[in-house]
Amino acid sequence: MPLRRTLLALTLLSVPLLAQHHPASNPLAGHPWADTSLSPDQRADLVLKELTLAEKIQLVHGIGWGPLRDGAPVPTDNNGGAGQVPGIPRLGIPSLQQADSAVGIRMAAPESRYATLLPSVLGAAASWDPAAAHLYGDVIGRELRAQGYNQSIGGGVDLARDPRNGRLFEYPGEDPVLAGTTVGHLIMGVQQNQVMGDIKHFAMNDQETGRTVVNAIIDHKAAHESDLLAFEIGIRIGHPASVMCSYNKVNGDWACENDWLLNQVLKDEWKYPGFVVSDWEATHTTVKAALAGLDMQMPGDEFFGKPLEDAVQSGKVPQARLDDMVHRLLRSMFAAGVVDHPSTPRTVVDPFRGRDDAQHIAEESIVLLRNQHNVLPLDPAAIHSIAVIGAHADVGIMSGGGSAQVDAPGGNAIHPGRGTHWGEPVYFPSAPLRYIREHAPNAQVSFNPGTDPAAAASIAKSADVAIVFADQYMSEGGDAPTLALPDNQDALIQSVAQANPRTVVVLITGNPVSMPWIDQVSGVLEAWYPGIAGGQAIANLLFGTVNPSAKLPITFAKSEADLPHDKIFGLTYAAKNGGLPEHWVNEEKKSTFPAEYTEGVRFGYKWFDSENKAPLFPFGYGLSYTTYTYSDLAVNAADHSVTVTVTNTGSRPGTEITEAYIQLPSPSNEHFRRLAGWQRVPLAPGEHKQVTIPLEHLAYATWSDPQHSWTWLPGDYTVSVGSSSRDLPLKATAQLH
Ligand code: BGC
Repeated sequence: MPLRRTLLALTLLSVPLLAQHHPASNPLAGHPWADTSLSPDQRADLVLKELTLAEKIQLVHGIGWGPLRDGAPVPTDNNGGAGQVPGIPRLGIPSLQQADSAVGIRMAAPESRYATLLPSVLGAAASWDPAAAHLYGDVIGRELRAQGYNQSIGGGVDLARDPRNGRLFEYPGEDPVLAGTTVGHLIMGVQQNQVMGDIKHFAMNDQETGRTVVNAIIDHKAAHESDLLAFEIGIRIGHPASVMCSYNKVNGDWACENDWLLNQVLKDEWKYPGFVVSDWEATHTTVKAALAGLDMQMPGDEFFGKPLEDAVQSGKVPQARLDDMVHRLLRSMFAAGVVDHPSTPRTVVDPFRGRDDAQHIAEESIVLLRNQHNVLPLDPAAIHSIAVIGAHADVGIMSGGGSAQVDAPGGNAIHPGRGTHWGEPVYFPSAPLRYIREHAPNAQVSFNPGTDPAAAASIAKSADVAIVFADQYMSEGGDAPTLALPDNQDALIQSVAQANPRTVVVLITGNPVSMPWIDQVSGVLEAWYPGIAGGQAIANLLFGTVNPSAKLPITFAKSEADLPHDKIFGLTYAAKNGGLPEHWVNEEKKSTFPAEYTEGVRFGYKWFDSENKAPLFPFGYGLSYTTYTYSDLAVNAADHSVTVTVTNTGSRPGTEITEAYIQLPSPSNEHFRRLAGWQRVPLAPGEHKQVTIPLEHLAYATWSDPQHSWTWLPGDYTVSVGSSSRDLPLKATAQLH
């Protein structure tokens, strides 16, 4: 063996040998909780017995704003994330190092690190692909671990009750089963890296306007069958280490001191064993919050530091409750593997692997909404000139803001060197123009910034095809004022479409938008925020290297007038108070306003269906470059599934998302269907497959609040199967209770 290879082999061999010969380097060595054959609960109890009161208190709150706020103290072992809870080194319990990681890891650049920007979570939901969601979480988990973090604080699953909600790009859409399934698999992906996952914001954090003072009013039955169901399914699948309670009130009580939400629903009904962590500054009291089920205050200690210690000593908070808080944290740490396998920031993130994964997810998430006369896919052999217009498509692609903001490699592509500022759009260097040119090397591809609609129209006029990019910046802390695209982009699209009917619009948006120009354009792709490889993914879909398969996880309305509430709750309140979340946080909780969700479970497609309103594009809708037919539906009541045959009747391979909806028996009085299951079906041209779609049992259950349990109504359930919530060619009835 050549000397170099021998040395390498010896080096590799020596790593485990060294580890074996230096047991003292294992901080758990000699402690009874080092025994991995014990359950996480047993191990947590053993540690708990050793902790002093001061140590227990230390474990239930953070160290303050740290790197999140200029001037806030940052301990030397801080990893640069949004939250830190110092560990107990003498007992081998590591510090909690938490990082915001909704769509990739936040705040990497200040630490000279790189993090992959993934597509929007809404985009991941549009893939209807649990494997893509799992991969999404895996990217986050492995990069967190490589950067020395041991907890992700992502996993947003608040449902899209309002399509203007500023954080929709962090959330998986409007349906509880699709959303819960997506986020559950995402959390599994995070936690397989021995990093703790989180699910947030519990609950009803459904708008950003006045988010710290809004009081969501919802009856318990409707909540269980919608917003809470998304959490219940996400927790059942993903087993997240923590649940983050939200800023808002629910039925009069702050979410982080809401006995119904935390004690009754989460811990009693769902038997959730992990810990409840407050959103940042969402804790309002000591005794009430502790007794209502809050287990950890973040980011500081105003309520769960000295005041909690005093409350325990005076008996206002029983010692057993404090022990329960600590037990929940420790058992989550043991269960996730962060005690046995502490994260150390030693390895470098693999940016190429992250980019490939982000591209795969983006390609599964971009929805083809319109394709008149098969304008798409573009044929490079037949196209001699392309006009690319708008949205800085020559330099990059927009990302979402707020605590979900990921730092762009090399800085903001449109303002290199300016850094990242809250509320300012950051573009990533994945320029669609570059990839369009790569696909059409012989075509003349010109670019116009789109700031002057007339100038854009003039380059579009002489081109074979015009591709208009339009974007919409959304960020935590504010909602979209309307459904319209901002910055005069509707006028831009209109004027380009008038100049060239072969106009394709690519939307880079956080939220659904209205499309007053829809009848004038030939093609529309909804790309959400497509992530670090967005430009490449979009070009691959435009040119048909990838056949679109995604379907909408959210209804696109024609106008606000068709929504359950034409205006966002509290707009007047926000206008009066300046609109800054910090302002609302500090403004002593006196001012509140209700968000009365009288529509109950009827939002999104359930609203449009029961109100007989025509959406612009329905939930579950998405086109492909091939076509599919459906036949032979059978319902298997005994094992809660349906079988159906799907055929690819076109000339390209594709994947059809086959959707199953259920309408409850007539005593329910429901005039809408509920999504109960789906299956992605890859098919070659001409191929057909019989597929089985498992049905989510809770999708067609009703919650009985008096009995505190789910029930299934007797009678005939109508099962409908097809390609969208509004295109369901097959129907059957069955007794599914
Ligand atoms: C957001 C959370 C986030 C936290 C820490 C809050 O403003 O609502 O989602 O995890 O800040 O950055």
